[in-house]
Amino acid sequence: AHGRFFIGGNWKCNGTVESVTQLVKDLNAGSVPPADKVEIVVAPTFVHLDMVKKTLNPPFEIGAQDCWVGKGGAFTGEVSAEMLHDFGIPWVILGHSERRSLCREDDELVGQKCEYALSQGLKVIGCIGETLAQRESGHMFDVLDAQLRAIANHTSLGNWVNMVIAYEPVWAIGTGVVATPEQAQEAHAYVRKWISDNVSPDVAADLRLLYGGSVNESNCGTLANLEDVDGFLVGGASLQGASFISICNAEN
Ligand code: G3H
Repeated sequence: AHGRFFIGGNWKCNGTVESVTQLVKDLNAGSVPPADKVEIVVAPTFVHLDMVKKTLNPPFEIGAQDCWVGKGGAFTGEVSAEMLHDFGIPWVILGHSERRSLCREDDELVGQKCEYALSQGLKVIGCIGETLAQRESGHMFDVLDAQLRAIANHTSLGNWVNMVIAYEPVWAIGTGVVATPEQAQEAHAYVRKWISDNVSPDVAADLRLLYGGSVNESNCGTLANLEDVDGFLVGGASLQGASFISICNAEN
């Protein structure tokens, strides 16, 4: 693995006051590695950020699931990067496949979002990944190239320390069909080489590459041992305190 192992919990559009209260309680009571071993970031909805921020204890950190592409203003319904930073939220997920497909975010918009969020002092979990159709038609690497190119075009050399990349094959998200260790390692090695060739070898060596897609407490151990898997972005299993705590201990 490269750098400090990283576990993200993406709560997506889930939660009630009651369920979030319980989940925070379960996380606070869980036993997780110290912050110098594993970095753990959970991303509640915007509605729940405040209560989670007030109640979730270190070493857990907090992220948002998206933000607006530029400075705030007359953009009804949006939340801007500088608001998140001002509010004390250190991380933001950008370019998640659900936003790419359901909200029609294209590569260029995701790149612009990364640039603006980084400029406002946020750290970014940038998401990439191919659909099943793209993989089966032999376009997986072209898709990853284009997604990475857009992010790289908008990320200055010095800002890569504030970025992690999550490889999430769309066919593995929420399906129970986890990538095989070979598939995950192949994609991650490809991403690292791309970053080495197109950004810099030093950035590639330090960049943390997360795998996302049906990660659970049973499959996380094998995946965590792969050379180029430096963490996970967990969806469904991050809503269950016990499962998420197990995944936070995946390296042990
Ligand atoms: O951001 C998380 C991913 O979309 C994975 O979701 O663990 O429910 O498959 P999942």
